[in-house]
Amino acid sequence: MSSLASDIRFYDYHPSRADFLGEVLTGLAITPASIPPKFFYDEHGSRLFDAICDTPEYYPTRTEVQLLRNNAVEIADCIGSGCVLIEPGAGSSEKVRLLLTALRPSAYVPMDISRDHLFAAARKLADEYPWLDLHAACMDFTAPLRLPYRPAGVRKVAFFPGSSIGNFEPADAELFLRNLRTLVGGRGGLLIGVDLKKDAAILDVAYNDAAGVTVAFNRNLLTRINRELGGDFAQDRFGHRAFYNGMRGRIEMHLVSRCNQTVHVGGHAFSFAAGDTIHTENSYKYDISQFHTLARRAGFEPVAVWTDPAQLFSVQFFDAI
Ligand code: AVI
Repeated sequence: MSSLASDIRFYDYHPSRADFLGEVLTGLAITPASIPPKFFYDEHGSRLFDAICDTPEYYPTRTEVQLLRNNAVEIADCIGSGCVLIEPGAGSSEKVRLLLTALRPSAYVPMDISRDHLFAAARKLADEYPWLDLHAACMDFTAPLRLPYRPAGVRKVAFFPGSSIGNFEPADAELFLRNLRTLVGGRGGLLIGVDLKKDAAILDVAYNDAAGVTVAFNRNLLTRINRELGGDFAQDRFGHRAFYNGMRGRIEMHLVSRCNQTVHVGGHAFSFAAGDTIHTENSYKYDISQFHTLARRAGFEPVAVWTDPAQLFSVQFFDAI
């Protein structure tokens, strides 16, 4: 643990370069190639994601923000004051601001894989909420979860907004929720944002914004591999493809090779024919009953659901069973 500011505790469990290299080499060696979406989020990737959230096409963020803003008091009533609020994948910690005043948690624990982004966000939050006990932990939340410190005798509630749960395969989503259930314990709770099934046209546009921010976000993965793993990807030789796969209930995002080419990473060569893809992300969409079933299997009982009038997005609260 390091404590870089008087009122924040920082914990650094950043995954090593070897983990990143290992997962990229394994992912590029399979057919079709696939790299886990968690590697999007270096400092620049995190900024690009924030920029996606501001595009007019990407409805999840503004819809969820409205839901949290309009229902903050009711949400706080479900959770109860004085809890330890744990946010895996906290990023810029923007959404939690909508709850803090109503909720008054005894502590807030943001966790994120993007170290500099997380620590900068925690410093800003500490300035704005001087009463808040802050424990910021840089960690890969797709790996087994642990709390960086041991709060005793208080209710622990996980906050997982943004429908990041959709970026897990459904079986992994259940495992992750089980991990959260273990983390929060028998008196705990879960407040989660879940993107809902809808017209494919709305989804396709949301992942193909006109300004090309999602294209830049997808391609930044290649820039990151070049910089951190000594790769030689040429960004302009890969195009962006995102579409809704209705059979699987998910948006798929790919990088598509524009020509026959050989790319090197960490001394290994990988050949792509024109049209070959690197699968970079899935974003599953749920209906409410489907998500309740998943959450129950992981040890959470549904308590409340908030949705917008167009039923684009949901915020859901669960108590631990
Ligand atoms: C972080 N996650 C929930 C986003 C999503 O919608 O699946 C990531 C994203 N990818 C492209 N646009 C946004």
